[in-house]
This record gives sequence, C-alpha cells and structure tokens, in this order.
Amino acid sequence: MIYKAVCIPGDGIGPEITAATLSILRAADAPVEFEEHPAGVGALEKGLAVLPDSTLEAITRYKLALKGPCSTPVGGGFTSVNVGLRKRLNLFAALRPVRSLKGVKTRFEDVDLIVIRENTEGLYSGLEHEVVPGVVASLKVATEAACGRIALWAFRFATHRKRRKITVFHKANIMKLSDGVFRKNAQQVHRENYPNIDLDDMIIDAGCMRLVQDPSRFDILLMENLYGDVVSDLCAGMVGGLGVTPGANYGDHGAVFEAVHGSAPDIAGQGLANPLALLMSAEMMLHYLADQHEDKRADQCADRIRAAYEGALENGEKTRDLGGELSTEQFAQAVMARL
Ligand code: NAI
Repeated sequence: MIYKAVCIPGDGIGPEITAATLSILRAADAPVEFEEHPAGVGALEKGLAVLPDSTLEAITRYKLALKGPCSTPVGGGFTSVNVGLRKRLNLFAALRPVRSLKGVKTRFEDVDLIVIRENTEGLYSGLEHEVVPGVVASLKVATEAACGRIALWAFRFATHRKRRKITVFHKANIMKLSDGVFRKNAQQVHRENYPNIDLDDMIIDAGCMRLVQDPSRFDILLMENLYGDVVSDLCAGMVGGLGVTPGANYGDHGAVFEAVHGSAPDIAGQGLANPLALLMSAEMMLHYLADQHEDKRADQCADRIRAAYEGALENGEKTRDLGGELSTEQFAQAVMARL
C-alpha cells in the first residue's frame, strides 16, 4: 500500500529542506507518494492566492500533508497560511515533541517533553478591531467545545503513548474566564474519563521558570494557542533549537506535518538550513500512517530514518546550527548513507 500525501515546499529555506527530506524518504523506501502544491509567497508569485483552493482541496482529498514553512507577507491584509490551513481544515490539535538528541550537546540532558497546543482559538482567533482611534482590542476566544475537544484529544494521546502526566499551563489567575474554561475542561475530562493519568496545572510564568530549572518534572504540556506557540519554541531551545523540533497539526479529518520553525529568510538559498525538523515531522507522519492503517512497515521505515539521523549526529555529521559543518544536502547524504 502506497499512501498519497500533499507536499507544500513553502518559502525561504522550505524548498531546500523539503528536497532533502523527500530524498531521504525515497531512500528509506517510505510508503508515501507526494503530490506538490503551492502555498505562501511562492503561490502569490504564481498569481494564486496565498493559500490556493486547489491546495486545500488536495489536502482535503488525501487528508495528509507534509508542509515546508511559508512566509506570510507583512501588510496587505494576508492571513497567515498556517492560521488559514488550521482553521479551514479544522486542525485543532498541534503536537510538538521535544527530545534530547544524542550528538547534540545542550545545557539539558534527557529532555522528553510533548507540547500539545489548541490550534483554533485563543488570541489567534484573528478578531481584532479599533475601538476608537488609538485604542485597539484583540479578542481571546475560549469555547467549551474547543477546550473540551483538545483536553479529550490530549488524554487520549497520553493513553495511547503511555505517557504519565499532563500539566496545563494557563493564566487563570488573571484571565479567569477564558483560561478558566481551558483549565476546567482539562480537569473535567481527567475526572470523568482518565483518572489514571496524572493532571496538574501551573500558572504559565512559574511553569516556564520550572521548565528551564528541571524539564524532567514535566511530561505532556497542554495549553491554549498563543502559549503553545511560545512555549514550544522555548522547549526547542532546550534540545538544540528550531532545526531539531518537529510538529504536527491534527484534525478529525486529516493531519498536516511541519517543522516548528519558519522560512528563515536570513539563511535561505545558502545550504545552511537544517532539514532535520522537517525530516522528524515526516517521521511523525509515518508513525501516524502506521497507527491509522495498522501498517507496521510505516513504523519500521520511521525507525530506520531515526536510527540513520541519530547515527549521523553521533558521528558529528551535523549542519551549522548544531555546531557542524555540513550543508543541507551533505547532511541529507550522510543520513542516506546510513539507510
Ligand atoms: P524562523 O523560524 O524562520 O527563524 C528564526 C531563526 O531560526 C532564524 O535565525 C533562522 O535562520 C533560524 N532557523 C529556523 N529554521 C532553521 C533551520 N531549519 N535550520 C537552521 N536555522 C534555522 O522565524 P522568523 O524569522 O520569525 O520567521 C520568518 C518567516 O517564517 C515569517 O514570514 C513567518 O511568518 C514565517 N513562519 C512560518 C511558519 C510556518 O510556516 N510554519 C512558522 C513560523 C514562522
């Protein structure tokens, strides 16, 4: 069985890291066939919308996409491709695993955290207006439906992956209603359905301090949209930066896999980008396919890829962001040589 998926190369470093990732997937005999579709500035340059309907239709058809980072033009009224995709496809859960990698030295050892972020509401609802000249307001939206849905998803995920604890980060001491609803739903799902998994909660500022003091006290972190965006980058910094942090966005009808980082225009086109975060996102895609279709081959392929890049890193074969000397393509070659 070969699964079909959309591939969006994206902007900036997107095409370079996508090419590297696809060549590694091919070398690993991954059971996925990709159909390329545009989004972002690349789509605009072709005279299309920043998120073309044809791209959305293809993802809806295959229910699966691997996405490179897309730049959002500042000004001009464009909504972010990512926010648009998440909303249009109702990809309500973002998953960002953060783990230490052998061969990547950081201040922290044995980090193994998962950030689960509600992807559709909060301050990213995009509801902003000018109340009177000089005064603007941004609406933070929290619905029982979305808070309950992400809480249920997080506990199901924790059970499936045999994780022990969920910690909710919030600011319910100040935003008593919105963050209050978020925390209350997590507590309710815990009480009613998953009492066997530990749940605690922490005010986010204190939580961030504890996180950098001792990440080992955390397991799964659950939070609303904006907090999840910020905290996942903080966690990325603990294990080597944005070049090694993968991500996935899940909905009821499909999933989009993408690195946490953006299009990095400062290093685009120079062979300096680390393709690992996108490759690790593709690894997550293979595990997702294995789960969805009970297909062990996809799991085995993901494991082969992981062993290959871990081997390369341990041998000092790294891109510059990790202190190595390899270009994007040379790193891809080093991984493929181990497959
Ligand atoms: P960024 O993540 O693109 O870059 C931040 C820093 O990390 C830069 O110094 C960059 O060189 C470095 N970096 C990022 N990925 C790297 C990689 N794979 N290898 C080595 N170094 C890497 O964030 P920034 O600069 O704030 O955003 C640039 C553009 O990306 C913006 O237009 C933004 O809207 C877009 N963006 C897109 C995202 C997506 O499509 N998922 C996510 C975040 C930002």
